[in-house]
Amino acid sequence: MTVKIERIGEIAIVTVDNPPVNALSQALRQDLLDAAETLDADLTVRAVVLSCAGRTFIAGADVTEFGKPPLPPHLPDVVARIETARKPWVAAMHGSALGGGLEVALGCRFRVASASAKLGLPEVRLGLVPGAGGTVRLPRLVGPANAAEMISSGTPVDAREALSRGLIDTLIDGDLEKGAIDFARAALKRPLPTPLIERAVPAIEEASWEMIAKTVAARAKGEDAPIRALACVRRAIDADFKTAMAFERETFLDLRGSAQAAALRHVFFAERAARRPPELAGVMPKRLDTAAVIGGGTMGAGIAAALRDAGLPVTLVERDEKGLARGLATLQTIFDGAAKRGRISPETASERVAGVVGTTDYGMLGNADLVIEAVFEDMAVKRAVFARLADACRPDAILATNTSYLDPEQIAAGVERPDRFLGLHFFSPAHVMKLLEIVPTAATAPEVLATGFELARRLNKVPVRAGICDGFIGNRLLKVTRTQAERLLLSGATPRAVDAAMRRFGLPMGPFEAQDLAGLDIAAFQRQAARARGETPFAPVAERLCTMQRLGQKTGGGWYDYASGDRTPRPSEIVSAIIAEAAAGWTQHPWGEAEIIDCIVLPMINEAARILEEGVAIRTEDIDLVEIHGYGFPRWRGGLMHYAEARGLQDVVNGVQKLTDRGLAEPPTTTLKQGRLEPRG
Ligand code: NAI
Repeated sequence: MTVKIERIGEIAIVTVDNPPVNALSQALRQDLLDAAETLDADLTVRAVVLSCAGRTFIAGADVTEFGKPPLPPHLPDVVARIETARKPWVAAMHGSALGGGLEVALGCRFRVASASAKLGLPEVRLGLVPGAGGTVRLPRLVGPANAAEMISSGTPVDAREALSRGLIDTLIDGDLEKGAIDFARAALKRPLPTPLIERAVPAIEEASWEMIAKTVAARAKGEDAPIRALACVRRAIDADFKTAMAFERETFLDLRGSAQAAALRHVFFAERAARRPPELAGVMPKRLDTAAVIGGGTMGAGIAAALRDAGLPVTLVERDEKGLARGLATLQTIFDGAAKRGRISPETASERVAGVVGTTDYGMLGNADLVIEAVFEDMAVKRAVFARLADACRPDAILATNTSYLDPEQIAAGVERPDRFLGLHFFSPAHVMKLLEIVPTAATAPEVLATGFELARRLNKVPVRAGICDGFIGNRLLKVTRTQAERLLLSGATPRAVDAAMRRFGLPMGPFEAQDLAGLDIAAFQRQAARARGETPFAPVAERLCTMQRLGQKTGGGWYDYASGDRTPRPSEIVSAIIAEAAAGWTQHPWGEAEIIDCIVLPMINEAARILEEGVAIRTEDIDLVEIHGYGFPRWRGGLMHYAEARGLQDVVNGVQKLTDRGLAEPPTTTLKQGRLEPRG
């Protein structure tokens, strides 16, 4: 049984106990339905409190039922049965009341919650709309504007916010179940509110609605579910309850079989799996109570902030007092900003800053369990740092490098006990970006690698294991993006057309806008290093821009021009002239949007296939996660590899071959031609 019934006087307590998260499995749906029947028939019961055992209220659907035909009883029927029960039900929520969980609560006559509860309808994140009346009942309870915002964004609200929106009737301090029973007793003394099915949706002015619709459309960027969710709320406003329910169900069923929902489900499962790689099953991570960061620049300060957000005390080491002051000031700015945006309280911000000890003395590192190096991208500087770390740290301390492109094997060469060394590649800004590439060397011990994954979990990041090559997984693919983008320019496309096409594909920014934002100098530095290794990186236009000190927004111009104090990219005549000059001898082509996208994305897939062949990535899903969490690849496309599979590998091969024939891409790789994307071995 997933449900237990007790009676305390005239109040019945229905306790859901379906670990780990009280998901709405078929058994639970049946048990809830049976409980409603039993309690309606029990004349001694006047009200019902619905609460949950364990760490959360009903947290949502049962993920093991995803993608399978649903078994009866269906959730809409369970919710309707509770809503029309003869006794009023009170949902007592703690933890997460999400998706179907909140829909069950909406079927109850009252809703109460602990202050720490989170409530929401996140179905759009899986490419769906709520399927059990959420879009029909929520607007009746909190008004159409609130409902539209919550359902189309999928973002949960905390209990206080829920109270202010009218989503819950009261907050319960202390024992939730007892508070809910007291609430139910008091409620029975007053006339009962009507169930939501009998209520009308509060009116909304057409102008406000249009504004909401515009915002949702702008945010969706090609994603269907938020727009369809909004249409459901609109139907709830315009039509009667039954019609709106039918429309919601129809939309839900339609989306459930959609390509976007499949892609989003794929990412959901990939993220879950990423945290627990099977090859590390049973390997215990090492203790992680104190951390240190070497270098307080852009990355070091961001990494220190991420470590503090996870509650770890941090020692920040800089090379001199000036560098230290700058690093600590950056940290202060990060936490002040978080407080200003209301993400944390001013007290928490002070406490996070206070948890960082800044020093120029490596002697302060004797206690650190983990040290992350983020100094200049220079082999000699990094090696000198690790030589000092080997002296200053405990022999069992984990030593990590945040290098972008250098070979961690070479950085670690000469480090005593190299089994404790690994690469931890963060993305900028490190306290925001979710991706963490974890790069073991041949010597890295399994428990050190497992500690990398444990760190990601503590930092709430998505870990991906990457092998050693120039740029690991992410930056290696980024190089292809940029090469292709320049090839497009030389063969007739403009920066603006390329950026617009990639935005249309679903990226938050095109490749040229992104370079202008980050600065062109970082890539120039990598190319210089590549040339030193005897390679011939392709970036004729970018090279020219760098020699002209057109390094992006920070210098007032890069691929675009910028007016002072304005980040709007404006097409640049200087850049057009450079492109025209560099394009001499290239065949010009009138590029359409879809062709531009193919010219960038298909060669990236080809490179990803090579990355798999080489074993640099050991799972196709890892490449998807790298692209989504490091580079803004649209989540609803499922990532680069999922996109390739969904599109059809033969189509990808044909596209790459066509580009190759025109001198615009490297030839398709063997495994891609064989129609399989599989990791080596
Ligand atoms: P940065 O130039 O902003 O910061 C480097 C800091 O290291 C400076 O504050 C410098 O004073 C300090 N430093 C230099 N030598 C030191 C020493 N011996 N001991 C202590 N501190 C020392 O550079 P950034 O951008 O933070 O990059 C750091 C590392 O992170 C590089 O390896 C870079 O490739 C990598 N990285 C950079 C990313 C980015 O987007 N900026 C992204 C991911 C990795």
